[in-house]
This record gives sequence, C-alpha cells and structure tokens, in this order.
Amino acid sequence: MHFISLASCVLLASIASATLQIVPGATWTATNTGQHIQAHGAGIIKVGEKWYWIGEDKTNGTAFTNVNCYSSSNLVEWSYEGALLSRTASGDTGPSRVIERPKVVYNKQTSKYVMWMHIDSSNYGEAKIGVATGDSVCGKYTYLGSQRPLGFESRDSGVYVDDDGKGYLLTEDRRNGLRINSLSDDYLSIKNNIYTWREKYESPALIKKNGIYFMFASQLTGWNPNDNYYSTSSSLSGPWSGWKKFADSGSNTYASQTTFILPVGDNFMYMGDRWVSGNLMRSTYVWLPLRIDGQTASMKNAVNWVLDPVTGSMTSGPTENQYEGEAATMSNGARTVSCSSCSGGNSAGYLGGSSAGAVTFVNVQSEATTRTTIRIKHLNGDRSQRYATVIVNGKSQNLAFLPHGGGNPGSSVVHVDLNQGGNVVEIVNSNGGWGPDIDRIMVPQT
Ligand SMILES: *[C@@H]1O[C@H](CO)[C@@H](O)[C@H](O)[C@H]1NC(C)=O
Repeated sequence: MHFISLASCVLLASIASATLQIVPGATWTATNTGQHIQAHGAGIIKVGEKWYWIGEDKTNGTAFTNVNCYSSSNLVEWSYEGALLSRTASGDTGPSRVIERPKVVYNKQTSKYVMWMHIDSSNYGEAKIGVATGDSVCGKYTYLGSQRPLGFESRDSGVYVDDDGKGYLLTEDRRNGLRINSLSDDYLSIKNNIYTWREKYESPALIKKNGIYFMFASQLTGWNPNDNYYSTSSSLSGPWSGWKKFADSGSNTYASQTTFILPVGDNFMYMGDRWVSGNLMRSTYVWLPLRIDGQTASMKNAVNWVLDPVTGSMTSGPTENQYEGEAATMSNGARTVSCSSCSGGNSAGYLGGSSAGAVTFVNVQSEATTRTTIRIKHLNGDRSQRYATVIVNGKSQNLAFLPHGGGNPGSSVVHVDLNQGGNVVEIVNSNGGWGPDIDRIMVPQT
C-alpha cells in the first residue's frame, strides 16, 4: 500500500513537471521576441539554475551580425537576453565577415567566460580562430583577436573542458585533419597539439562518459547534411578508434550537422543544425536524445520528445489529438484554402489581413490540467517569417512561422496551459499582415 502510493506520487510529479516538447526542425519562437530563435552553430552552458544557448544570428544571412544569447530554466522555453558580440565598423567583427560556432566555457581561475569561434573572410580564405572574454555569461564580451592555431588553418571549431579543468580547442585543419589542441590555464592561448585525425571531418563536439571520450564530427559537404561520425578513446592523446556512424545510415544525421553535445543529468542531448543555405535565418534546430552505452553512441529520430531538465530523462512525445484548421470556426474573412500537402486536403487560410481573419478551435480536449506543447502544422510560402497570436483560454502569445519551403506543412510550437476537458485555441493575426495557413493543430491527450 505504501509502495503503491509512493509510486503514483512519483508518476504524478513527472507528469506535472515534464510535458513540454522538443520538436526537431520546427519554428522555435523565443518567448519575449515573437521571432524564431537565432542561435545557430550553437553551444549551451549552464550557470546556476539557468541554461544559456549561445549561437549565430543568421537573420540577415552569412555575414556576421551578432552572437546571440538566450536563457531558459527548462531547455524548452527560451527568452532572448541580448548579443554577446555585435558587428563593429571594421576588423574581425566588421562588415562582410564570417563568425561561426561560438562556444563559451567558464574559467575558474580567472572567473571569466571564454568564447572561442571560427573567424573568417567572406570567402573562407583566412581560416582562423578567434577568442573573446566576458565577465558574465550573457553580458557583453570583449573580442581579443584571431590567429591560425599553431600556424594551421582552422574553420569549424569547438572547446572542451575536462574534469581536471584543463581546456582544449577542437579545430578543423582542412589540409591535415581534425585536431585537438591544449589551451593555457586561462583558456586564452593555444599551447600544443594533442591529437590529429588524418580524416578530414568538421563540426567537432567532444564529451566524456565513464572515462571514455567521444568526438563527434561531420563530413565536409558544405551546408548540406551528411551522415555524421564519432570516434572514441580513453585518452585525449589517443589512440582514437575508427569513425562510426551514430544516427541511421543514409539519414544524413536526420538532415542535420552536429554543433554540440549537451550533458543533462546523466544523459546527453545531441544538438544539430538543419541549415537552409539559400535562406539561413530559417535554418532550424535538431535536438535529439543521444544514447551513450560503453564505447557506443546511437541516436534515433523523433518528431517530438520530452526532456526532464533535472534528471536528463528523455522520453517519447505524447499521444496527440489533431484538429483540422478547415473544420474549425473561421471568422473575419478567414476561409478554407485547398492544400494538397495538408491532412484532409485543406487548411484554414486568410488569417490576418485588414479584417484580422481568425481561426478558432473550440472544445480542444485535454485529459489533464497541465502545461504542455501544441504543434501547429502550417504553410508559409514567403521567404520570411509570418506571425500570429495564439490565444489559449484567453491567454495570448506571439508566435513565428518559418517558410515551410514548398513541401509538407512546417511545424511551429507553442507552450500553453490546458485545462482538463475542453479548451479554446484561437489563432489570429491582427497587425494587418498575413499569418500562416493552418493545416491542423496537434494537442497532447494527457
Ligand atoms: C537585418 O537587416 C535589416 C535591414 O538592413 C536591419 O534593419 C536589421 O537590423 C538587421 N538585423 C540584424 C539582426 O542584423
């Protein structure tokens, strides 16, 4: 009896605390900007109880504009904090420059945050590594300069801090292979080469579990994804194993490129970029549970999944009900638009415009009163984002909808409070512009 009540208590706690979803490849709207998160080629660092997602702002394409920082306490709902570095009039951070894969680590000796990043000219001919420091994780950073590490070319890069506090730079040397170099105690200068793989891989990310180091990297196919690989060793200086695939062979790592592997609890989360080379701002984030077992890494794809940010438990997405846009109540000019790639062959269109067209889903069922994630399948045939306000039981949030790219409808996600029983979900654009067309909404049953 006692055992049973304890077990049900634990179950309830996990349901109440961990039902927000990570949806790989979806539009991911920052809570306070209403815009798709711009933090590509990113890393994440935890400071106190918060996580900080630091990456490239691709709003205006390849040329460097900002290294952005977002914060979250659950790894799902992110708010924009500001830019750590921004474009200057000249120099490495000036106009028409390339800054990629910023990675931040904390140095305990100097109490500084240290950012290493790929620095380049617009034709990628300089091939250098740059470094900056900050006094707070998400404040302004001071750019210190760039170099070719130990005299060699360096494009994609990463940083690793070992259990003993020693820092390492991971750098892609196109002529000679992927390298691990040791850093000085303050992490600001490059000391020695520790290991060089002969294979020419890029996008390095390094973790350690139970004494085994895992180096993850991609092949060289530009912005296009490929099957990414990993190599293992019990020592950073090698010998390292041959490279093996960790995602389904032929899936091109579920159409993504490794940028970082984040430890969460006892587990690891893969973070990849799904680049859209012709319109980089609409590149999305592919985050998936990464299984580490002895000397083996493996990863399966998921439409949606649930991460417990405290324990690192990673579970499948919930069973969902779906509600068709064309079956919902359309008002103020919104009307059914035929759409061959949509479920049911139709969508709810003409949201917004001068009459503020709206679609309202009444009696959206939930078996529990809970905070959860709704996936909105939508179409946006433009090159830029469309926007809508999503109002759930009277509470509004602004959501972005990336261009869906001409194929199947895209997904945008919104985190909401549902009541047990019937709920009302309204999607409207009342700023005069056009919102997306809504194919359907996917709502967790419990
Ligand atoms: C992108 O370009 C537009 C138009 O030049 C400018 O107004 C905007 O500030 C730029 N955004 C970023 C993030 O650089």
